[in-house]
Amino acid sequence: MTRPHLLVVGSGIAGLTAALDAAATHRVTLLAKDELDQSNTRYAQGGIAVVSTPEDSVAAHVADTLAAGAGLSDAEVVRVLCAGGPDALASMLARGVAFDRDGDGLAHGLEAAHSAARILHAGGDATGHAIVSALLDRLTASPVEVRPRSTVVDVVVRDGRAVGVRLLGGEEVAADAVLLATGGAGQLYPFTTNPAVATADGVAIALRAGAAVADLEMYQFHPTSLDAPGSFLVSEAVRGEGAVLRDASGHRFMTDLHASAELAPRDVVARGIAATMARTGRPVVLDATALGPEFLARRFPTIDAACRDLGLDWGRTPVAVTPAAHYAMGGVRTDSWGRTSVPGLLAVGEVACTGLHGANRLASNSLLDGAVFGARAVRGLRERPAVEPFDATWAEPVPVDLADADGAEPFTRADLQQLLWRCAGLSRDAAGLTEAAAELRRWRTPEVDDVKGSEDANLLLVGRALVAAALARTESRGSHHRTDFPDRDDTQAVHRSLALQP
Ligand code: SIN
Repeated sequence: MTRPHLLVVGSGIAGLTAALDAAATHRVTLLAKDELDQSNTRYAQGGIAVVSTPEDSVAAHVADTLAAGAGLSDAEVVRVLCAGGPDALASMLARGVAFDRDGDGLAHGLEAAHSAARILHAGGDATGHAIVSALLDRLTASPVEVRPRSTVVDVVVRDGRAVGVRLLGGEEVAADAVLLATGGAGQLYPFTTNPAVATADGVAIALRAGAAVADLEMYQFHPTSLDAPGSFLVSEAVRGEGAVLRDASGHRFMTDLHASAELAPRDVVARGIAATMARTGRPVVLDATALGPEFLARRFPTIDAACRDLGLDWGRTPVAVTPAAHYAMGGVRTDSWGRTSVPGLLAVGEVACTGLHGANRLASNSLLDGAVFGARAVRGLRERPAVEPFDATWAEPVPVDLADADGAEPFTRADLQQLLWRCAGLSRDAAGLTEAAAELRRWRTPEVDDVKGSEDANLLLVGRALVAAALARTESRGSHHRTDFPDRDDTQAVHRSLALQP
């Protein structure tokens, strides 16, 4: 019997997990825009949050995730994630992921807003690299057909159903189902912890296919990237081990802002740093000197090497840090089986919006998200191969015109990034968002005749959608901070979706 053909787009933890799981029952082709090891997963440092000690519980992980999500996380999806942790861990261990050990057991780190030390890590701070390496080894030994350097431009939709993808250059690849696992969108901003491939492709592809996207205004900024070219991530785990933040006069300002100080939710710490930098006009530093150079080099070898490359001796001198774009909580609207509003089209991992992360993702829940929902999408595909659309009345629609204005002009990616950083970054208001919306409409969608053109077209479309979503949410909640609406308004504790009109 011919096996159904599944196209997986993306090679982070979600795509790799889905491809490996599906290979037992499907013919699988995995497409990646760049080399297979280029994804947000590959650069994840801190680790993966999994309940794996007797002192911890799924209920505690659920409670922490819901608290971080600031009233916008979908409780059932959160439960599925946290309860799915142990099976996802078993699968990763079976696939050869070498998590760090402490004696006979796994080593557990602590990160912000977690009530228990439940962060598993590998290679100290090279968790993503260890996961990707192990899964890619498995992929090589599997029957999955792998096509790196293949840019998917669009999903092919016929009679309202996804039936394949179109690649740059025009080739069409037919499939019974298409699963988007294209990751994040950090390149919307000039300062980001994400690699160059994170250009919001999946959200743009889904929008053009007529799928609904949701919660795009919810974009997370990591508090601590090195304030140096490249915005290198300094893991939250460093603060989990005891490093503190100080202003230019040496004051530990986070103690003034939140009871959990440096381990407050990520959006609180990021805004605390940005406000302190703005108030003093001087850099904020991360002081890890109390941990000592030997410990830092052993526990955080990747960050240690990055600091040394930049001439920074972080074990002896505090280093300047700044917030940087890190993670999209919003994305292609799906149910917990990865089904989008278009039949035959699935989405999992960072590109998807299940409602799991709400208004602010809990640290180290993203790798678990990819592992749990990557596997679950394949389970759903086996049980319901026709991939019916997800049709819950789950989100309020945002009316939006995402087309170019008449007479639109070319733009540069740097212009777009600076505009979004200034008007739709850590803090927003109606004036800035309105200015950004008008400017983005005045920019012309580029020709899609090379990878850069395809990426810029995607960034522009998603930038417009993000700004529209941010304008529609007239409250502050989690990562979405409106200076003109500083309070949370629980009448707006709803997901918001938008879609292109066919
Ligand atoms: C970090 O190591 O701080 C990043 C972890 C995450 O974003 O979940």
